Amino acid sequence: MKSLIAPSILAADHTNIAQSLSKVKNCDWIHVDIMDNHFVPNLSFSSQMANSVKELSIAPVDTHLMISNPENWIKQFLAGSDSITFHIEATSKIDECIDLIKAADRKAALAIKPNTSWKEVLPYLEKIDMVLVMTVEPGFGGQKFMQDQLEKVVALRSEFDERNLEIRLQVDGGIDSTNIEAACKAGADFFVAGSSIFNAQDPEAALEGLRNLVNLA
Ligand code: DX5
Ligand code: ZN
Repeated sequence: MKSLIAPSILAADHTNIAQSLSKVKNCDWIHVDIMDNHFVPNLSFSSQMANSVKELSIAPVDTHLMISNPENWIKQFLAGSDSITFHIEATSKIDECIDLIKAADRKAALAIKPNTSWKEVLPYLEKIDMVLVMTVEPGFGGQKFMQDQLEKVVALRSEFDERNLEIRLQVDGGIDSTNIEAACKAGADFFVAGSSIFNAQDPEAALEGLRNLVNLA
C-alpha cells in the first residue's frame, strides 16, 4: 500500500486555517486533533471547527479523538471526518464506537498510548481500518519522538501480515526527517507530522522531503 502523510493542523496557524491548508496541498490527508482536558491535559478544536476544516480541505480528514467516552461524541464529529480514530484507553465501549463510525461509512481506527500494549487492539483488527501507535504521550505537539514505540509497530505489522489484513498502521508524534525512515522500515504506512511540517519555512517542501524519505526506506 502507498504510504500516506497527514499534516497535523494542531501545529498550524489557528487564526488562518485556510491559509495553512493551502501550504500543504501535496498532503494525502489532514489530521485534526481533538482534546478534552480530561483524557489529555489540553484543549484543542470544537466539532464546529473540525467541520470547517473539512469544508476547506481538498484532502480527506483524519480526526484523532483524544477524549474520554468517545461514544458520546462520535456523532458530532462524523460530518467533519472521513476517518475517526479513538483511544482504546478512553472507553469500555470499544465495539459501540467502531459500530457508530462504520455505520456512517467512515473509516474507524484505534489508537494506543505509549504505555499501552499493542496486544490490546488484537481483538478488534478485523473490524477496523487502521491502528495508531502514538510515538509521544498524547496531548501536545512538538514533543520528542519515542523510538521504543517502534517495537509495537514491528509487532503489529507482522500480525497484520500473518492475518492478511489490509489495514493501515499510523504513527503520530514527533515525526520528522530524522525518524520517518525508521518508522517506515518498522512497518508504519501512515505518518502524522505537525511541527516538522508547519514550523518549516516551506511546509509543502518539508512534506515532500518526508515523502521522499519514506519512498527511499
Ligand atoms: C499529539 C497529537 C499529534 C500532534 C503531532 O497529541 O496527537 O497529532 O499534533 O504533532 P508533532 O508532529 O509536532 O509531534
Ligand atoms: Zn494526533
